[in-house]
Amino acid sequence: MDVVICRSYEELSKAAARVVADLVTHKPNAVLGFATGSSPVGLYKELARLHREEGLDFSKVTTFNLDEYVGLPADHPQSYRRFMNEHLFNHINVTVQNTHVPSGTATSPKAFCEGYEKQIRDAGGIDLQVLGIGSDGHIAFNEPGSSLGSRTRRVTLTEQTLDDNARFFKKKSDVPRHAISMGVGTILEARRLLMVVNGESKAPALAAAIEGPITSMITASALQLHPDAVVFVDDDAAAQLKMRDYYEWIQKQAKAGD
Ligand code: GLP
Repeated sequence: MDVVICRSYEELSKAAARVVADLVTHKPNAVLGFATGSSPVGLYKELARLHREEGLDFSKVTTFNLDEYVGLPADHPQSYRRFMNEHLFNHINVTVQNTHVPSGTATSPKAFCEGYEKQIRDAGGIDLQVLGIGSDGHIAFNEPGSSLGSRTRRVTLTEQTLDDNARFFKKKSDVPRHAISMGVGTILEARRLLMVVNGESKAPALAAAIEGPITSMITASALQLHPDAVVFVDDDAAAQLKMRDYYEWIQKQAKAGD
């Protein structure tokens, strides 16, 4: 796993956006996996800038998002579809029909989830999956105890996740208790994983995920099983990494062309 420690959130967002941009430049019909949450907002802002100012072309790109709240229609202010439209899709030239966010209102969630997996397969699989990390160490909405082989399914959110996400709703009881989430197994099939982590509140979860044992209790630890994962971390989130000097040493050598 590559761990890239950045001095600021802005630097982290630009570096992560560069990885996405390089892929789209070399493979214009790339299949991108996107995440919601505050962590990738800077990355999306930078992708929008690259489109606007440097002509980065998303017209042939296909996208799949990780998750959606059960019960929220696509146009709900807190739906993840709405989040993606507002933070990215409305600002780039992606074809709306090629953007996929799980439906939170499917009458048969099970059939929907199987169909979502099939859509990913039919698109040729995900080339690059963007991820954040929850304060309980989750990726997408794969809460502690989720099988590391899990597939897209309906999940129940933990109390901690409800607390963390209550800030986006009027009151905690408005936060949906369930979500549709890609599974850990689904995520691990992406050809490349790119995680963005910022802020001191994420420091314990990040350290557990990348330096602790691989465990379904911290589903982000599954990144350790992936042959091509890169994690962009800001200074605050890196605070509890035991191998921090080593990661910085590797980056220094990479910059020097070693
Ligand atoms: C939600 C999302 C995750 C995201 C996490 C962290 O739980 N399902 O994909 O990584 O929030 O969000 P934030 O980046 O706002 O801390």
